[in-house]
Amino acid sequence: MLQINAKRLQDRIEAMAALGMDQSGGVSRLALTDMDKAGRELLISWLEELGCLIHIDPIGNIFATYPGQDREAKPILTGSHNDTQPDGGKFDGSLGVLAGLEIIETLKENGYTLSRDLIVVNWTNEEGSRFSPGCTGSAVWSGKIDREKMYALTDRDGKSMKQELARIGFLGESDFPRKTFHAAFELHIEQGPVLDHEKITIGIPEGIVSPRWYRVKVTGETNHAGSTPMKGRQDAMYAFSLMCAKTIETAKEFETVVATIGHVETTPNSLNVIPGQVDFTIDIRGWDVDNTDTVCHKVESALKKIAEEADCLVEIDRFWEEPRVTFDTELMDAIEESCKDLEISYKRMYSGANHDMIYVSMIAPGAMIFVPSIGGKSHSPLEDTPYKDCAAGANVLLHSILKVSN
Ligand code: GLV
Ligand code: MN
Ligand code: MN
Repeated sequence: MLQINAKRLQDRIEAMAALGMDQSGGVSRLALTDMDKAGRELLISWLEELGCLIHIDPIGNIFATYPGQDREAKPILTGSHNDTQPDGGKFDGSLGVLAGLEIIETLKENGYTLSRDLIVVNWTNEEGSRFSPGCTGSAVWSGKIDREKMYALTDRDGKSMKQELARIGFLGESDFPRKTFHAAFELHIEQGPVLDHEKITIGIPEGIVSPRWYRVKVTGETNHAGSTPMKGRQDAMYAFSLMCAKTIETAKEFETVVATIGHVETTPNSLNVIPGQVDFTIDIRGWDVDNTDTVCHKVESALKKIAEEADCLVEIDRFWEEPRVTFDTELMDAIEESCKDLEISYKRMYSGANHDMIYVSMIAPGAMIFVPSIGGKSHSPLEDTPYKDCAAGANVLLHSILKVSN
């Protein structure tokens, strides 16, 4: 059976990880930074060597087409994102993009031409760390989120996404056609503990949990830390600490729902000043939609109650949410068949992490392939996946593409 070149895939993952490698061994290649630019340029150089046709769209997505026999037939799309979290892992995103590239090289050197075009994509700003929300490239391409709104997103230094796209030379001029696709696949690390615990090589997610992201502003009153009596303070930090605990405790009451407060800013952020303002984010996600709704409701009303009791004001902005996504049955079956053909263990599961497949699968039949994350760690420098599992995932992706292509 046709197999990808595991060593070449590993070498490319490592060469890409060198761009933004931190002392911790993690990688910082945040969207539209100089490191992201370097990663994009390296990727394009590899794709061009293979004769792919490159298209950059107005939100900076990179589409590389490997032409098939029938250029009019509906193409197959695969890929992922090449941006990372701050001090994140080297497999999150990169694996899916570089596996797409590796599949093209494997097909080419073995003299295979698919019956239809194969398009490898690198989506812009999946992570949503520098510019929130994430999955920006796929959301705009799919037409589900307004491009101008995403252009206006700013990072912590006030730089806009449009400005940064132009600065790194990836503000493309024309849309990549949102024509009908035959199938879309994304290979990704699991980013959770299930496959590693159960010693299973491939996960076939049935879908992606429903994400809801919030920005919350708590306003109290800035005052002197020494001379202001405890009674009568309007301490935004005190209110925030109760809100934080309550949010996490609420999610703990419900199965398959998770809640995270990952970003906090306090103003004026001075040791001896009562904070007059705290800004923070909440990320709530769940597979069970009723439970997820209930957690969101409970959290929102708890935040209001806590603010009132602490004599503060609270503004709650639920700025991003998508419904739970379910993947295409035939594509999941094709992945399962490929696992059987290759004698690789697999299991059906769901994805707790966000992926561009949220938006891609609104446009095309879509499915994902997961490989294990050692100890379930990701968005961390400790993220790791055995290279033999990366290769297994790429082989399952290759055979799934071959199966559905013809
Ligand atoms: C990104 O990886 C996310 O799941 O938020
Ligand atoms: Mn990812
Ligand atoms: Mn990620």
